[in-house]
Amino acid sequence: MHIPVLLNEVIEYLDPKPNENFVDCTIGQGGHTKLILDKISPNGKVLGIDLDKKQIDNCKHLKDNFKERLILVSGNYANIENILQEANFSSVDGILADVGFSSFQLEEGNKGFSFLKNENLDMRYNTEIQNELTAKVIVNEWTEENLKRILEEYGEEKFAKQIAKKIIEERSLRLRSGREKIETTFDLVEIIKKAIPLKFQHDRIHYATRTFQALRIVVNGELENLRKLLSQAVSVLNKDGRLVIISFHSLEDRIVKSYFNEEFKNNNIKILTKKPITAQDQEIMDNPRARSAKLRAIIKI
Ligand SMILES: C[S@@+](CC[C@H](N)C(=O)[O-])C[C@H]1O[C@@H](n2cnc3c(N)ncnc32)[C@H](O)[C@@H]1O
Repeated sequence: MHIPVLLNEVIEYLDPKPNENFVDCTIGQGGHTKLILDKISPNGKVLGIDLDKKQIDNCKHLKDNFKERLILVSGNYANIENILQEANFSSVDGILADVGFSSFQLEEGNKGFSFLKNENLDMRYNTEIQNELTAKVIVNEWTEENLKRILEEYGEEKFAKQIAKKIIEERSLRLRSGREKIETTFDLVEIIKKAIPLKFQHDRIHYATRTFQALRIVVNGELENLRKLLSQAVSVLNKDGRLVIISFHSLEDRIVKSYFNEEFKNNNIKILTKKPITAQDQEIMDNPRARSAKLRAIIKI
């Protein structure tokens, strides 16, 4: 079960009122959407998007309650303008994006997001698209230089060089001994473990966290998708419409912050959060995932 993060804060900054229309770019399990739909009743609508078809399927039961007030679209928020056009969803009073992955996907998604479960090294949100980049392709085919670069850039991994080197060593070892490629999450965890000095293997954050994060970001083009969403979001909003972004990674937060600053300079928006809003201690205790959540919000002028 995924617990929606910063739920009260999302409602405070989106400020949904009866009969307004919203877009939830990352509907997930529908945690935020349900509350928004309550606030915008009786006639307000939410268009909920998710890249993971399973998440859209998980939300279908919500239509029993909310009927045609909830529109579900399986797609990439990077294409928000087209999605809205195709759904004929023309008046948008607010947009929410709670980016990244959900606890459901980590625990039951079978996508290879978790280093605690032995799964296929895939990491695509949308596994229905064929011939797309997977974590397995990166780990088995990319050069040492490129592996090091993505681990540094997207994982901020201080042992990037050592991990990249070990991956390459393991690849040639497997090739020489006629073994299969690096196939599973546990294969990769084992390699990372060999690359990281023993005294760093018992930190509060698991030693495989940063490598897994970097791979997931690259496989799904997460930063690029966020940039594309931001570049369309303000223009699809109504005047006085609100945009709320929750991110979990410093690189994402930097992108949001600098985009908001630029739009502010261009006189298109007012920034509602001078500093990012973070979770209170109680929420972090109830939902450790909330620890790294950062919420930023704007209003279109
Ligand atoms: C943190 S979860 C959202 C949870 C949701 N707010 C809730 O309360 O249940 C993020 C969701 O975004 C989806 N996602 C990731 N990248 C996406 C993209 N580019 N376009 C659409 N959905 C995406 C993931 O599949 C995941 O379901």
